Amino acid sequence: MKEQIEAIQTEALAQIATAGDERSLDDARVAVLGKKGTLTLVAASIKDVPKEDKAAVGQLLNAARTVITVALEEKQVILREVADRAALEGIDVTLPARQLAVGSLHPLTLIRDQAIGILRRMGFALAEGPEIEDEFHCFDALNTPADHPARNEKDTFYFDSGKLLRTHTSSVQVRTMEAQAPPIRIIAPGSAYRRDEIDATHLSVFNQLEGLYVGTDVSLPDLKGTLEYFLRELFGTSTEVRFRPHFFPFTEPSFEIDVKLTIKGQAPRWIEVAGCGMVDPAVFDAINRSRKDDAFDSEKVTGFAFGMGLDRLAMIRWGIKDIRLLIENDVRFLKQFA
Ligand code: DAH
Repeated sequence: MKEQIEAIQTEALAQIATAGDERSLDDARVAVLGKKGTLTLVAASIKDVPKEDKAAVGQLLNAARTVITVALEEKQVILREVADRAALEGIDVTLPARQLAVGSLHPLTLIRDQAIGILRRMGFALAEGPEIEDEFHCFDALNTPADHPARNEKDTFYFDSGKLLRTHTSSVQVRTMEAQAPPIRIIAPGSAYRRDEIDATHLSVFNQLEGLYVGTDVSLPDLKGTLEYFLRELFGTSTEVRFRPHFFPFTEPSFEIDVKLTIKGQAPRWIEVAGCGMVDPAVFDAINRSRKDDAFDSEKVTGFAFGMGLDRLAMIRWGIKDIRLLIENDVRFLKQFA
């Protein structure tokens, strides 16, 4: 049996030595150590060995198995290395990796998300409404009479049906108040449309963010504090903010808000970013008529509203001089925000 084991070992080592790839190495392993392998079969016949020889034969068997296993493992390492080297043949692994272009969020998305983040922390919930609106929600309910210039065909995109592309997000105020009783604290970011001549500061499709807060004891200082805090969160704590009296049909009193823009190398100037004011009781009356109740009794509730241009905010935030850059999708411009 001793000779048999030695012969098997010699045979196995020879097979391992000549194996040229992992497949033939595995064949060699199965031939000797597999279920029906030569060494396995010999090991099975150990029961027939006389008692006094069993220990010696067992040792021989174990020694042979160890030698063969070690040889298999060593050969496996060598074959792997050979295979790896062949796979890399002709590839210069010292070449620099190909540059992957990293995408980024559009500046308008960035500013919108930041604005939403700040206002949500202050308790404003998101609201939305359709971009194809009717005159009631865009104008009439907002105390904007039929002869108001904003309703002119030259200023607004009308459909044959009489519907229109909303000229501001203020229509979402109306839809929210129709659907919900006070207290209300919402913001509505979205597109607005006007027949504006496109230039460095105007687009015919632009982005606004509307806000509405209705409740008991909502006052002008609340409006001022909220918007000043908002603008300083967005542009930095030392940002200068100014409220200028203005007129909007749906608020009384009304203001325009300017932020002082300081760009290196330029004289500081005020830029208008938003309109705002205390909700005009005439708006509450229109809502009550539409709801057929008295939920917005202007003797009991007050509110403030604001609407700002997100494109403007982005221009101020990053010192962008031409609004058209925001829609041209020029990668050279956009990759600054990556
Ligand atoms: N809708 C106005 C615009 O597009 C902006 C605005 C002004 C919204 C005053 C308001 C507001 O909610 O109270 O120019």
